[in-house]
Amino acid sequence: MAEIATLILEFIKCVARPTRSCVDNHRNFKENAKDLGDKLSTLNCKKVDVENQLLNEVCSEKQAKKEVEKWVQDVVKINAEIQDVLKRLHSASYFSRARLGKLARKKIDVLDAILKRGSFPEGLVVDKPAIALPLPVENLEGEDSVKKKIWGYLTGNEVRMIGVCGIGGVGKTTIMKHIHNELLKGSRFDKVIWATVSYPLNVVRLRHEIAEAMNEKLQKDDHDDQRHASKLMHLMGKGKYVLILDDVWERFTLGCVGIPPPTAENGCKLVITSRKVDVCKSLGCEIVKVSPLSKEESLKLFSDKVGSDILQVPEEIWKAMVEECAGLPLAIVVIAGSMKGVTDVHEWRHALKELREHVRATAEGSEDEIFERLKFSYDCLQDSNIQNCFLSCSLYAEDYQISKDDLVEQWIDEGFIKESRSRRAMLDEGRTMLNKLENSCLLEKAYSEDTIKMHDVVRDMALRISPQFMVKACMGLTEIPDECEWTKNLEKVSLMDNEISDIPLNMCPNCPILNTLMLQRNSKLTQIPNCFFANMQGIKLLNLSGTSIESLPHSICNLENLTTLLLQNCTQLKHVPCLAKLKALKKLDLCEAGIEVAPEGIDMLVNLQYLDLRCPELVELPTQILSNLSHLQHLTIYSNSTTLKIKGEEVRGLKKLETFQAELYDLQHFNNYVKSNHFKRLSNYQLVVGQVDCTFNPFINNFSKEISLGEREVGGEDSVVLPNDVEELWINRCRKFRSLSDIYSLQKTTELRRCVVTECEEIGCVVDMVTSSSSFINNLEALYLDKLPNLSVVVNVEGVEATSPHIFSNLKSFGMWRCSRMKRLFPIELLQGLQNLEKIILQDCQQMEEIIGNGIICCGSIMLMNA
Ligand SMILES: *[C@@H]1O[C@H](CO)[C@@H](O)[C@H](O)[C@H]1NC(C)=O
Ligand SMILES: *[C@@H]1O[C@H](CO)[C@@H](O)[C@H](O)[C@H]1NC(C)=O
Ligand SMILES: *[C@@H]1O[C@H](CO)[C@@H](O)[C@H](O)[C@H]1NC(C)=O
Ligand SMILES: *[C@@H]1O[C@H](CO)[C@@H](O)[C@H](O)[C@H]1NC(C)=O
Ligand SMILES: *[C@@H]1O[C@H](CO)[C@@H](O)[C@H](O)[C@H]1NC(C)=O
Ligand SMILES: *[C@@H]1O[C@H](CO)[C@@H](O)[C@H](O)[C@H]1NC(C)=O
Ligand SMILES: *[C@@H]1O[C@H](CO)[C@@H](O)[C@H](O)[C@H]1NC(C)=O
Repeated sequence: MAEIATLILEFIKCVARPTRSCVDNHRNFKENAKDLGDKLSTLNCKKVDVENQLLNEVCSEKQAKKEVEKWVQDVVKINAEIQDVLKRLHSASYFSRARLGKLARKKIDVLDAILKRGSFPEGLVVDKPAIALPLPVENLEGEDSVKKKIWGYLTGNEVRMIGVCGIGGVGKTTIMKHIHNELLKGSRFDKVIWATVSYPLNVVRLRHEIAEAMNEKLQKDDHDDQRHASKLMHLMGKGKYVLILDDVWERFTLGCVGIPPPTAENGCKLVITSRKVDVCKSLGCEIVKVSPLSKEESLKLFSDKVGSDILQVPEEIWKAMVEECAGLPLAIVVIAGSMKGVTDVHEWRHALKELREHVRATAEGSEDEIFERLKFSYDCLQDSNIQNCFLSCSLYAEDYQISKDDLVEQWIDEGFIKESRSRRAMLDEGRTMLNKLENSCLLEKAYSEDTIKMHDVVRDMALRISPQFMVKACMGLTEIPDECEWTKNLEKVSLMDNEISDIPLNMCPNCPILNTLMLQRNSKLTQIPNCFFANMQGIKLLNLSGTSIESLPHSICNLENLTTLLLQNCTQLKHVPCLAKLKALKKLDLCEAGIEVAPEGIDMLVNLQYLDLRCPELVELPTQILSNLSHLQHLTIYSNSTTLKIKGEEVRGLKKLETFQAELYDLQHFNNYVKSNHFKRLSNYQLVVGQVDCTFNPFINNFSKEISLGEREVGGEDSVVLPNDVEELWINRCRKFRSLSDIYSLQKTTELRRCVVTECEEIGCVVDMVTSSSSFINNLEALYLDKLPNLSVVVNVEGVEATSPHIFSNLKSFGMWRCSRMKRLFPIELLQGLQNLEKIILQDCQQMEEIIGNGIICCGSIMLMNA
C-alpha cells in the first residue's frame, strides 16, 4: 500500500511540475532532446495500444506471445534508460551538450528499432498449452503399496496399460487423483489427461471430455463419428500422454474412441479404474487390485474424521464400529461424518447396533457391502426433509458440479424446506441443510466454493433407495425414453442435459404421481406435444429451462397442483396458453424467455410468490396485475422495450416483497415510490429510471440495493429522491448536476459502496467539498468514471481548510476513462486517506497525457495494479 501511495504522490508531483523547466538555446541539442522525448512518447503509445489489445484478446484459451511479452519488458526497460538520459539532457552543462546530443541520437535509433519490432503482423496471442489443474482430493489413508505399484508401472517400460480394480468405495479414484496430481508436478509426460467415463459409456461425450482436458475443442455439432475420432487421434498423437479414465463400466476399443494405443515407441500410458476386472482384462490391462484398508489404517482414518470428540467415546464402541466398515474408506468417511459431534455414549451404542443390523445381510465382496453401510448414514439423517434433499441431488448427472444456489432453490421448489414468511429465511434453512449433508460427508467438495458434488458410489446408493426415480441426466439421449419406461409409480424424472430433439406427437405418459420433471438444457427440444402432461396431474415442479420450445402445450393449463414452472432462457418461447387454472403456482420464472406479451391469466395466480419476467422482448404488462399478486416475495421485471415500465403504486401494496427489480415509469413515480418507504421492506432492489446505456446488467441475480438513473435531471433540491440505504448507484447521461454533491438526496445516503458515472456533460468534480459535506462517499469501495468531458478534478478542495481524513478511506478500486479535461487525480491532502486503494485504472484522459507525455511517466494510459 505504501508503494502505491508513493506512486501516486510521484505522479502528482510530476503533474504539478512546470513542463518546460529548462529553456535551452542550443538548437541542435534542443531538437535532439525533443526528438528523443517524442520518440519515447510514440513508443509508449504503441505499448499502450499493444497492452489494450492484449487485454481484449487474452482469455482462458489465449495467452500473450513470448515475443510480445519480451517487447513490452524492453519498452519498460528502455523507458528507465531514456528518462535518465532526458534528465541529464535537461541539466546538462554547456560543455557536455555535444556528447549528450550524440547519445540522444544513438538512443533515438535504439527506440526506432524497438518501435519497428513492435508491429506484430501475426497477432499478439497464441493458444495456451494444455494446463491441467490438480484435482481436489482427500488425504490418502494407507494404500501405499498400491500407489507404489501403479507408480512403478507408470515410470517403468514394461506395462503400457494399467487397470485399477476394486469394489465401489474402496478408494480407486482417490488413489488415482493423488497420482494425477503428482504426475502434474513432474515432466515425465507432455499431457496428463483425466476423464470420467461412468455408466453408460457415451463415446461422443468422452471424446469431448478428453479434448477439453487438453484445452482443445472438437466441433460440437459435427456428428461425423469417424472425423471426430481421427481429430482426437491427431490431438493425442502430439507428444507423450498419460490418460486416466475413471470409472469405466463397459468394454470399448481405443481406436473407436480416438485414443492412439500406448506403445513402447510413443511412451504413452493408459490407466483405467473400474469395479469390473473383466473390463480391464478385455482391454489388455495389467491389473492392480485395490484392497480394503488394514485395521490400523481404518482406525486412524475414522478417528481423524470424527475429530477430538472421539476421546469421549469408549474405545470398544467406536472400534467395533470401524470393524463394521470392512476397511472401505468411503464407508469409514461417511459413517464417521454421521457420528461427528455425537458424544453421548447411548447414541453411539445405538448407532453401533443399527450399523450391525444394516451390515448383517451383506455378502463380502459384493456391492451390497458398501451400499448397506452408506445406507446407515442416510438413515442417520433421520429428518425426512433432509433425506429428500439428499436424494434429489441424484437427479443430476454423475460427477456433476451442482451449484449450491441452484440446489437450495430446487429444495424450496420441491417443498423440502419449511414454508416461511420470508424467502431469506428459507434460503438460510436450505444452506443449513446443505452444510449438514456436507458435514456428514454424503456430499463432497467440488472445484469451487459455490458448487458441491455427490460421490458416484453415494449416488448409486441414493438411486437404489429411490426406485421411483428415473434419472437419465447428461447421457447424450437424442430421443425421449420410450413411453413404456414411464411407469405409473414414477415420482421424479430427470432428463436434464441431453440432446433430446423431439417428442412423438401422440406421446402421453401415464404417471399420475409424478411430481418432478426436469427437462432443462435440452437445447434442441423445440416442441412438446399438446397432450404430453394430460396424465401427469400430480406434477408440482416442471423445469423446461434452456429448451428451444416455441410454445407451451395445452395440457399444462390443467396442472392444478403445479407449484413451480421454470422457463428460464427459453428464447424461442412465444406462445403461452392461459395459466389462470394454475391456482397452486408459487413460482413462475420466465427470465430471458422470448415472449412479447405477458401470459394470459397471470393475474389469477394469487398464490404466486416468485415472478421473474425479465423477458427482453416483453412489450408491456397490463396494469393492475401486480397489485393482485399479494403474496409476491420476489418480483423481477425487465425488458429491452421502452414501454415496459412499472408505476410505483402497483407494488406499494405488496407487503411481502423482498426482492424487487423493475424500470419505474418516470422520475416522479420513482420519487413517489421512494417516498412511500416501501423499499424499506426489501432486502434487494434494483430500480431503474430511464435508459441506462452502459455495461449495467439487469440479468445478473446477485444485485444488492441498486439504483440506475438514465437521461434525467438529477440535481437540485427537488429532483431525484434516493433511498437512503442505496448501495450501488449508476448515473448515465444525466443533467443538472455539477458534482454528486448537487444530488441533494444522495447526501443523506449512508451505505453507498459502488458508484458509476458515465456520459454526463456537466459534472466538473465528483465531490465538491467547498459547497457540501462529503460523508456520503466515505463507505465507497469502487468509483468508476467514463466519458465526462467537463470533469477536471475528482474532489474539489479549493480553499477548504481541513479535509476529512475519512474521505475515500474505503476506496479499493478506482477507474477513469475518457475524461479529457481531467488534470489531476487526487489532491495531495487526500493521499493519506487512500490507504485501502488496490487498483487504479486510467485510460484516455488526454490532458493528463499531455502533461505526463513530456517524458515523465508515459502517455495516455497507466494501469497500476497492487492487488
Ligand atoms: C432449472 O433449470 C435451470 C437452467 O438450467 C437451472 O439453473 C435451475 O437450477 C433449475 N431449477 C430447478 C428447480 O431444477
Ligand atoms: C441459454 O441457452 C443457450 C442455448 O440454448 C445457451 O447457449 C446459453 O448458455 C444459455 N444461457 C444461460 C444463461 O443459461
Ligand atoms: C393435488 O394435491 C392435493 C393436495 O396435496 C392432493 O390431494 C391431490 O390428490 C393432488 N391432485 C392430483 C391430481 O394429484
Ligand atoms: C384484482 O384486483 C382488482 C382490484 O384490486 C379486483 O377488482 C380484481 O377482481 C382482482 N382480480 C383477481 C383475479 O382477483
Ligand atoms: C435490445 O434492443 C437493441 C436495440 O433496441 C437490439 O439491438 C438488441 O438486439 C435487443 N436485444 C434483445 C435481446 O432483444
Ligand atoms: C455477481 O455475479 C457476477 C457474475 O457471477 C460477479 O462477477 C460479480 O462480482 C457478483 N457481484 C457481487 C456484488 O457479488
Ligand atoms: C463545468 O464544470 C464547472 C465546474 O464545476 C462548472 O462551473 C461549469 O458550469 C461546467 N460546465 C458545463 C458546460 O457544464
